[in-house]
Amino acid sequence: MVMEEKNQRKQWDSTYTNTDDFFGSEPSGLGYRAVEIFRKNGCKKVLELGCGQGRDTWLFAKEGFKVTALDYSESGICQMREKAKDLCLDPNVDCVVQDVRAGIPLPDASVDAVYSHMLFTMDLWEKEISYILEECRRVLKPGGLNLYSVRNDHDPHFGKGPNKGEDMWQNPMGFVVHFFSEEKIRRLADGYEIVHIQEFDDPSPPFTKKLYEVLLRKY
Ligand SMILES: C[S@@+](CC[C@H](N)C(=O)[O-])C[C@H]1O[C@@H](n2cnc3c(N)ncnc32)[C@H](O)[C@@H]1O
Repeated sequence: MVMEEKNQRKQWDSTYTNTDDFFGSEPSGLGYRAVEIFRKNGCKKVLELGCGQGRDTWLFAKEGFKVTALDYSESGICQMREKAKDLCLDPNVDCVVQDVRAGIPLPDASVDAVYSHMLFTMDLWEKEISYILEECRRVLKPGGLNLYSVRNDHDPHFGKGPNKGEDMWQNPMGFVVHFFSEEKIRRLADGYEIVHIQEFDDPSPPFTKKLYEVLLRKY
């Protein structure tokens, strides 16, 4: 499994090196909804986990949020940093290259919101996701928000390809994807109030995905 994990990281690195804007050049629909939700709740400091090439990071920075953006892909982070510089948004963005399984390098109660679009849906075991959600809770201020998305069990790729343990299957591109039922989301929400769980389609490249949008609030 250790080898698999290294391969996944390498795969993201080479994908981002070889493809500009792998998920498209526009911010995601979830990113726009996050801006509305965070603004309505008075959030200013946002931690984004699994930011990739930064399509939503630039949106948050452009909209005036202070963003700490973390990903384990060095090439994704480098591209994001360059683009932020080109757009003169770099004062609003801090970049961290780190495997989130090693924890979040921020102090307790230091951010208003955590955002992750399709990070938990990667090759992470349920106990690792539980630890990361606990880390998110630690760095959130009381009442802080955790907005995340995951591929769900109605997605056409659910159960297809080689099984990699729990509800993880490897897709034809070689990425290991973890699929979530609503019950799993509820089970993982320890220490949070569940504000909503909503299904949506994400039409961004390379194919349309069925996701749950999950909004949690730290007790
Ligand atoms: C499906 S992509 C989504 C990227 C971005 N959120 C977007 O929507 O454009 C998942 C991202 O999570 C990152 N990732 C996967 N596992 C990770 C880990 N253990 N630690 C940090 N980043 C990870 C990958 O490098 C990749 O950029």
